[in-house]
Amino acid sequence: MGKINAIITGIGGYVPDYILTNEELSRMVDTSDEWITTRVGIKERRILTEEGLGTSYMARKAAKQLIQKTGVDPDTIDALIVTTTTPDYKFPSTASIVVGKLGLKNAFAFDFEAACCGFLYTLDVAASMIQSGRYKKIIVIGADKMSSLVDYTDRATCVLFGDGAGAVLVEATEEQNIGVQDSYLRTDGSGLPFLHMKAGGSVCPPSHFTVDHRLHFLYQEGRTVFRYAVTYMSNDVMEIMKRNNLSAENIDWVIPHEANRRIIEAVAKRAELPLDKVLINIDHYGNTSAATIPLAIWDNESRLKKGDNIIFTAFGAGFVHGASFYKWAYDGDKVAGAK
Ligand code: ACO
Repeated sequence: MGKINAIITGIGGYVPDYILTNEELSRMVDTSDEWITTRVGIKERRILTEEGLGTSYMARKAAKQLIQKTGVDPDTIDALIVTTTTPDYKFPSTASIVVGKLGLKNAFAFDFEAACCGFLYTLDVAASMIQSGRYKKIIVIGADKMSSLVDYTDRATCVLFGDGAGAVLVEATEEQNIGVQDSYLRTDGSGLPFLHMKAGGSVCPPSHFTVDHRLHFLYQEGRTVFRYAVTYMSNDVMEIMKRNNLSAENIDWVIPHEANRRIIEAVAKRAELPLDKVLINIDHYGNTSAATIPLAIWDNESRLKKGDNIIFTAFGAGFVHGASFYKWAYDGDKVAGAK
């Protein structure tokens, strides 16, 4: 038997219907379409507004579409992993809720938290599980309801985020030189002061004080985070390129985490990669955290061809960061329902 490789065999996605535009935001806080467009590159983002619906709702919708598009038998799914910073509850896991709603009888399910690197890290974990030979089919879902932890009175953060979910099916194959090829993943634990939520965890559980002092929202020192994001993502991309003899000529696509269009442009410039090879959709979704990379795949599936060399890269709270080299495994334009 040859080496087992792990490949993505399908993609599903979901974004809520409600569109929060820059124009609407500029009626809520002191901002403007001009500032948001030039400083961040976002025009609109989707928000899950229905009361009582959380991250699992979007994750389930994305996974349902994935199952329908791939035609996979749900009973053959071995595991389902949801990567999110905005779980439905502290416990049980969001993945356990999704697996129950989907009726997957033979899967075990768990959450994996790595902020905006969630999808990048989890794809590698799922690939390692597949390569071990113990599991054949794993659903990986990146999903975040960022609107649940954004302070809509803080102009410095509320313009940045949106809600959404993307799901991929990761499968085993004995075909060689395809799928996950290499990854360079790191965590620099110095990021806490610059990007976190102050209350609600075990250090500072919820209380009247934490609510009164608005401590249940995302806190970010934007400039510092920006600097780290550019440095780490570009260094990680260049490391992956060096290790795999990749260059602007033989890379087909770069799929980055989308936090700010200026970060993406700076990373591409430092790594000397042309922007027309970088898949960017931040203008219409904003930063959906763990969902940005799978949503970019979802939006561009029909452009991806078997054998395409893809670099994924991400950065987020922690600081988590990294890049991976992936060889696309199917012709997206032959998939019914591909965007
Ligand atoms: N509208 C108008 N003005 C604004 C707004 C706004 N929405 N937000 C901030 N400003 C003002 C500030 O008050 C400041 O004004 P001042 O000069 O009078 O003090 C000025 O704009 C510049 O503020 P900066 O914070 O320096 O603006 P910057 O250009 O750095 O952009 C931003 C801010 C968009 C947050 C940027 O720093 C950024 O993208 N940071 C990184 C975000 C990121 O990558 N996050 C990681 C992932 S998130 C995760 O892991 C959950």
